[in-house]
Amino acid sequence: MRAIFLGPPGAGKGTQAQRISEAYQLMHISTGDLLRGTIKDNSELGRKARVYMERGELVPDELVTALVRERLRAARRHRGFILDGYPRNQAQALALDEILAEEEIPLDLVVHFETPVEVVRDRLMGRRVCSSCGTNFHLKALPPSPNGRCSRCGGELMIRPDDQDQTVEQRIRVYEDFARPLVKFYRKKDLLHKVSGAQTAGDQYAELKRLFERKAK
Ligand code: AP5
Repeated sequence: MRAIFLGPPGAGKGTQAQRISEAYQLMHISTGDLLRGTIKDNSELGRKARVYMERGELVPDELVTALVRERLRAARRHRGFILDGYPRNQAQALALDEILAEEEIPLDLVVHFETPVEVVRDRLMGRRVCSSCGTNFHLKALPPSPNGRCSRCGGELMIRPDDQDQTVEQRIRVYEDFARPLVKFYRKKDLLHKVSGAQTAGDQYAELKRLFERKAK
């Protein structure tokens, strides 16, 4: 299965991409995680990306696309992939089409997590991330261990630097600027499936599993 998870920040893309990719042994390609990895490594790309990410803006297309291209080549060895957070605009969608054509990998579906803006704000304000394994928690909806540490690996939890008030508002604006043409692009290709981003994580997972099972037939 080769899928794209599309939706606003906080819609649950990362949470579900992690669960679904584990369930179906797919490669989870999160451009946000890849970029945070380059920042952690203090690479030249990381130093460039950090400036944009801290402002809640998109990292230049060519930098992100180069990361995705490299990953998709490796994805050939897997049973498929979930692209989480890429593409984010039409230029990236066109670049992705080219990569997939070169690699001869057709796309199976694009899941659009439709999520009201007030839900997005609450999710991002309550998010805590494990500094060791990267798992996302939410203080109320998906709480970590009672000792305040990661319930997967016991790691220390942190607040993502771009989950601050003003950066969240900028990320929401950026999403709204680019989302509509992207949704239209994939609707035209008859690949788009809507999922409510506002439901519980358990309900989202069940709906996605039904969708993946249907598509796999
Ligand atoms: P990225 O890391 O991709 O962030 P994002 O798209 O803004 O998405 P989030 O990770 O905030 O949200 P999510 O939908 O994955 O939700 P999650 O599951 O984490 O990108 C960060 C930055 O990198 C961008 O701003 C940009 O600068 C750059 N970047 C990345 N990709 C790029 C690209 N293609 N081009 C250019 N620049 C790029 O959940 C959020 C919270 O809600 C968590 O606390 C979680 O526990 C909780 N939660 C999840 N599901 C539920 C639920 N159903 N009910 C209640 N709580 C839930």
